[in-house]
Amino acid sequence: MFRRARTSWSLYLARPMHDECGHAMIEDVTTLASALRKRVVVADLQFDRLYPLSQRIRSGFHWTPVDVALRACELLAPRPGMRVLDVGSGVGKLCLVGALSTHASWVGIERDAQMIRVAMRAARQLHVEEHVEFLCGDATELDWSSFDAIYLYNPFAEALFSRDVDPMSRRERYVQSIERAQELLAATRPGTRIVTYHGFGGDMPPDAALVHREPARQDQLCVWIRRASSRTPWQTAS
Ligand SMILES: C[S@@+](CC[C@H](N)C(=O)[O-])C[C@H]1O[C@@H](n2cnc3c(N)ncnc32)[C@H](O)[C@@H]1O
Repeated sequence: MFRRARTSWSLYLARPMHDECGHAMIEDVTTLASALRKRVVVADLQFDRLYPLSQRIRSGFHWTPVDVALRACELLAPRPGMRVLDVGSGVGKLCLVGALSTHASWVGIERDAQMIRVAMRAARQLHVEEHVEFLCGDATELDWSSFDAIYLYNPFAEALFSRDVDPMSRRERYVQSIERAQELLAATRPGTRIVTYHGFGGDMPPDAALVHREPARQDQLCVWIRRASSRTPWQTAS
């Protein structure tokens, strides 16, 4: 009788095994890493424990959720040894999930130095430092053409909300970033994979073909592949 009562109390007090989406709740970093290596979706609440509270509260709107990240990484890096760039990598969630769940190497570029520090610390905690690199700087100043795949989760939209300049200048900065991103995408090598989640605010270059799209949370994951340029040299020159 006593034993039965104890069991029911412990069940009542036990931590939930799954979050409201049914994703596994995991207690420690090692178990979290090993679940993601096996491509098991873990709860965002759990993954985000790697980050300080100040970053955790941004998760819902700013960082790719774990289930979407696992699928995006699969679409970005179908072959081992690929080199993937996350444009505006934030606290590194996409790259970290990629480093655990694929055999690719991951580079995140983010202009916020504090986010870069947080991402690097999480990489050490997950023991994936050899497969992921975080660069601090402006993604539009980097050469994207050396990467096999590029991930864009609406990276430049934040410029529209920053309070350091007036609304007109914000809009101008946003448009400039988009135009530069379009140039960088147009300069990628044929065969480069581009995956978008919530787009990037601009149009893909005409030489990129949409080869796949699927629903992902409230949006979709789109896969584009750069084809060889259809333009002949004399057309380009004119
Ligand atoms: C929507 S978040 C996506 C974060 C990350 N890619 C993910 O999926 O979890 C966009 C990030 O891009 C960063 N960002 C915006 N413009 C940038 C730029 N020009 N260069 C580098 N990072 C930029 C922002 O600071 C923000 O952290």
